[in-house]
Formats: sequence, C-alpha cells, structure tokens
Amino acid sequence: MILYDNFQINSKGHLEIGGCDSVELAKEYATPLYVLDENQIRKNCRAYKNAIKKYLGENGGDVAFASKALSFKGIYKIIAEENLYTDIVSPGELATVKAAGFPLEKTFYHGNNKTDFDIEYGLQNNIGIFVVDNFEEIEKLDKLCDKYNKTQKILLRITPGIDAHTHVKVQTAKIDSKFGISIGTGQAIEAVDLILKKKNLDFIGIHCHIGSQILDIQPFKDTVECMIDFTAEIKNKYNYEISVVNLGGGFGVKYLPEQEELNIDCGIKTLSEYIIKKCRELNIKVPKIFFEPGRSIVANAGATLYTVGTNKKITGYKNYISVDGSMSDNPRYALYESPYTIVAANKMNEECKIIATIAGRCCESGDLIQEKVKLPDLNRGDILAVLITGAYNYSMAMNYNRLPKPAIIWVNNGESKIAVKRETFEDLMKNEI
Ligand code: LLP
Repeated sequence: MILYDNFQINSKGHLEIGGCDSVELAKEYATPLYVLDENQIRKNCRAYKNAIKKYLGENGGDVAFASKALSFKGIYKIIAEENLYTDIVSPGELATVKAAGFPLEKTFYHGNNKTDFDIEYGLQNNIGIFVVDNFEEIEKLDKLCDKYNKTQKILLRITPGIDAHTHVKVQTAKIDSKFGISIGTGQAIEAVDLILKKKNLDFIGIHCHIGSQILDIQPFKDTVECMIDFTAEIKNKYNYEISVVNLGGGFGVKYLPEQEELNIDCGIKTLSEYIIKKCRELNIKVPKIFFEPGRSIVANAGATLYTVGTNKKITGYKNYISVDGSMSDNPRYALYESPYTIVAANKMNEECKIIATIAGRCCESGDLIQEKVKLPDLNRGDILAVLITGAYNYSMAMNYNRLPKPAIIWVNNGESKIAVKRETFEDLMKNEI
C-alpha cells in the first residue's frame, strides 16, 4: 500500500489503482491521464455520513461536497447516490449539477461576487440555499426575489477571524479576507440586522470556511467556538434561533508518507462533542451542522499518469525528468509548491537511485510538477504516477500552450471506463469564428 489502500503494488511490480494495473491503463487510454477510483470516493462520502450520524444524531447534520475540488457530471451522480448535498460557486458549476440531474434543492450556492445573472440563474433554478457573502448581495437577492415571487433560504457567510495554519493562498477566514463578513468588526451582526428586515429572505443559518488542507483540528475547534457564540448572540439580540451552522471544508489529506491526514471520524467526533457542549453551556438548541469537504472526498481517489520523455542530467546541477503533462493539468506545485508522492508505476520494486526534478512540457521555467523526487533510473517511455490528484487538478486544469486537457477514467474493483474524454485539437478551437 502507498499512502492509501487503493494504491497497491501488483505481482508485476506495477502500481495498481482501484484494482487496475496503471501501466495497462496508460497503454489503453494514453497519457497524461487522470485516474479516479469510484470506490474510494464512496468510502470517503460514507466516512462523513456515518461520523455525522454517530456523533450528531440521525438529523443532526449533513455533508455537502464542494464542487470546486472536482466538477463534472459523473461526480454528481455518485454524490447524489451517496445522498450528499453539494456546494457550487459559479453558474458553470450550477449548469453542470443541473445537467447531471442532481437535486438542486440540495445545493448551496456560494460566491463572493455573484453577478445579477448568477443570482437570477440560481433563482430560476430553485437553488436550495444561497450562501450570502456581502451587504450588496443581501439587497440584490431580496430585490430579485420580488421579481421571481420567491422566498429564498439563505446562510450568511461569516469571517470568524481564524488563522488556519495552512498555505496563505488557501486561507479564507482571517478578518482581512475577500470572503464573508467579519464578526470581529461588528459587521456580521449588522448583516443579520439587515437580513431580518428583508421580507424575501429566510435566514436559516450561518456559514464559514477557514481554509484548505488543514491537518490540525484546533483551528476547527476555534471556529466552532466562534460560530456557536455568534449563534447565541443572534438569539440573545433578536430572539431568533437559526437552525443551520455550516462549518465549510478544509480537512487535509496525506500527500506524503510522513504526513498524518485529519481523520474524518476523529475530527467529526471532536467537533461534534465540542458543539454539543458549547450549545448546552449557552443554552441554545444544537443547530444542524453541515460540513462541506471537497479535497477529503476526492483527493485520495485520484492519480495522474504521465509518460517519461526527456531525461536531462545537467552535470553538477539537477536531473530534470520531463513528462507529457504539465502545470496545465496540475498547476498546484507552480502555484503553492504543493507536495506530492510520485512513483515509477512500471518500476515499483526497483531501487530509487536518483533525485529528480519532474518538469512539465509548458514553455515556462516554473512548470514543475515536483522537485527532489527519489526515483529509480528512468528511460523514455517509463510511466510516472503522481498520487492524490483527485482534488483541484482537473478542476484547475487549463489549456496553456494549447495543451488539451487529459481524459478522466473511472476505475472500480479492477474495471475501468472513460468518465471524461480527452480534449481534441478541435475542442481547443471550437469557439473560434
Ligand atoms: N467550502 C468553501 C466555501 C470553500 O471555499 C472550499 C474551498 C471548500 C468548501 C472545500 O474545501 P476543501 O475541503 O477542499 O479543503 N485550489 C486550492 C484549494 C482552494 C480551496 C478553496 N475553497 C488547492 O489546490 O489547494
């Protein structure tokens, strides 16, 4: 097993993903290739559902999959079958959720700058819950509800002022943030005041999201403290009890062997017990608690396969191994220096003798997939697998240098099938007149 038990080494010394030989997958579907293990996604969904049921009770909470981690029609079919909600952050994600036949009433609609079009599109499609981010949106949504003769359920996005000990580009809950309205400045309670005066807004609760790839439970406990205190403040000030607190996503996964993931069951146990205790102390009803994970649902279900091309040893400097993918299918190292475990999928039992920089094929020096990777001797044609790429890889892919996006394939108990076709050159030009 490597990192998670869906990654195994088979008798040929090849990497196996979800029971499929990755070298065979590379042959059959070509590279670069995103591989997604359906079973692992279902397992992750169930880990959340079961923990919530166990520690908060049958109707005490629920889980919404954060689409931004991975959005295509096939994923929503699984999310629906596993009985999760989903979160979306753009009309494009909305259109995808809709096309997949996902129940839109079980959708949270985010966005720090929803345009008039975005709001109307949400209202036309009967989105379940708008997560309102700012004063302008409160005003605009209320007005547009008049036009559609609707009452809209909303959560207010709060900035609790938490430092989440993660990469600065994926922190979202400090007071100085483009997301939400701050409790600390007094503006959050002003927003509540405004919402309660709006006749078309049904204020069901509050939301926050403190950041992503967080491996420590403490910032989540601090967040709970803040959110439950604020729930009590609303009750005391307005004699109004909200029924939902959405704590966002952020549970971190294991990208490297030396990392410890934030275990879903343990994390939810700790937070649930703390929530129940806090509510008791403050004499308020325990609200329905939502978690909104993206990464911890899909990341460890994924791997990306590449074929090795150039192996350049610069005497006295580095050894660059270039692959047939790039930052265009995985921009995360270029953006955040994100760590990954990379293995030679066809040489799993060979001794690692080299330390390599894995480079992509874009015309950009910063186009690296990873540095200082220990690998066996590699030749043109060998297959490299980057593990744990199920989240924020396909969803952040681009077409820089006119590179078509790779295909996604499903693997499941030794079977494989296409989920998303590889882009063609025609696809790259399809909107050009
Ligand atoms: N809810 C909200 C409102 C969010 O903004 C996010 C992520 C999530 C839930 C899900 O968080 P997760 O469970 O996946 O940590 N592109 C970055 C990650 C950006 C996360 C943005 N928001 C990366 O590749 O690391």
